[in-house]
Amino acid sequence: MPTLPSPDADPAVLQVWGGSSLQGHVKISGAKNSALVLITAALLCSEDCRLRNVPSLVDVTRIGQILVSLGVKLKQQDDILNINASTISKSKAPYELVSQLRASFFAIGPLLARLGSACVPLPGGCTIGARPVALHVRGLQLMGADVQIEHGMVNAHVRGNRGRLQGAKIYLDYPSVGATETLMMAATLAQGETIIENAAQEPEVVDLANFCNSMGAKIRGAGTNTIVISGVSRLHSTDYSIIPDRVEAATFLVAGAITYSEISMSPVVPEHLTAAIAKLQDIGVQVVTEGSDCLRVIPSHNLVATDIETLPYPGFPTDMQAQFMALLALSEGNSLVSETVFENRLRHVPELNRMGADIRVKNNHAIIRGVPLLTGAPVVATDLRASAALVLAGLAAQGKTTIQGLHHLDRGYENLEAKFLGLGAKLERVPQSVAIANDAFSPINSDALISS
Ligand code: UD1
Repeated sequence: MPTLPSPDADPAVLQVWGGSSLQGHVKISGAKNSALVLITAALLCSEDCRLRNVPSLVDVTRIGQILVSLGVKLKQQDDILNINASTISKSKAPYELVSQLRASFFAIGPLLARLGSACVPLPGGCTIGARPVALHVRGLQLMGADVQIEHGMVNAHVRGNRGRLQGAKIYLDYPSVGATETLMMAATLAQGETIIENAAQEPEVVDLANFCNSMGAKIRGAGTNTIVISGVSRLHSTDYSIIPDRVEAATFLVAGAITYSEISMSPVVPEHLTAAIAKLQDIGVQVVTEGSDCLRVIPSHNLVATDIETLPYPGFPTDMQAQFMALLALSEGNSLVSETVFENRLRHVPELNRMGADIRVKNNHAIIRGVPLLTGAPVVATDLRASAALVLAGLAAQGKTTIQGLHHLDRGYENLEAKFLGLGAKLERVPQSVAIANDAFSPINSDALISS
């Protein structure tokens, strides 16, 4: 796993020289969002769990540190993570770690199910939105937990002296991915049956259900809007491989489209990319399936505008919105992108405009007038997927783009630079001081930016 970044007086920037044609094949890593929740779900099991295809990411290191702080034993070899949670010595997750990674709030479900109590700091908002956890908390209450939120901590105890959550019927007001996953994990060891209605249907929810079922859980319906979990008293050892990262794959599909390059990628689950592939086709780019797990993007020089609305799965994913906006910035005509999932996820717009894009924002809508050319510029990554969008825009732009805020990129893309270099792209990570010395690059003040 990568080591965690320390506060850096001379942070790295990524220099991207645009205009090169790319070619070749990319290996897609394991899905970040699956890895984070599956590692946490291993807390449910008191025997050895082996996870394969674990991506090497800063966020994965952070979730691993949280488990270690709870007394869990972890052993990593390449992309295999061995987890032994036979002993959980604490039910309290440390604030310093949770505050750096929202996904660590996932721990509340398994801790409550395993130990009957959990104390997890409220994760707080992030750069893309407020991201409340009210649905997670309400569901746990319906399953018999007393939940107090005081001094920024969520304290939860199973009511009564049996120490075991009770199955319940839970309707989610919104198909929240995190709430569905938290409640699914909690229900796995509960007494009786839990029904989650209006559940999230994302592939990562299905991956979690498959992982838990491989340990002896009884979960049906994951991937539909109703999930039924029959609680079991304990889970057993497993050896499980995480699904490929559909957001990373979509990022490389857009990379092919935006640089007019033919590239292929595997492994992927093509059905997980249906919405992205359909939008690429609307834009004029073909994506062909080769075998069961490989995609090839066939570029077009006639990119045309289209509208995109982000929605819960199987709708168009919010995690792919910024990357597609970079492509639409270069597509002829007017496009409308509506971000309906997060309230503050258009912060890449001013950065793309700095590169010559013509995009206006009105509320949660971005109106994009396609331009024939982007030009390299100094830009700031404002969140994880926005940073990928800036790399894509930089690969297409004329001249050099210098991207600040790489800590966002490192959270969620494994070896992105190496993968692009392998395709023939020209890009280099250098200390900011070197970029300044080389070409009078002036960093943008990004003090106000915080991690999502
Ligand atoms: C997960 C993903 C993230 C992705 C998002 C939506 C992980 C680690 N992260 O985040 O990459 O962008 O799904 O696909 O898997 N909401 C409420 N109340 C709640 C919970 C959520 O109103 O109690 C709202 C949120 O504010 C947001 C929307 O629901 O507007 C979607 O959030 P949610 O599906 O919970 O996203 P996450 O699980 O945080």
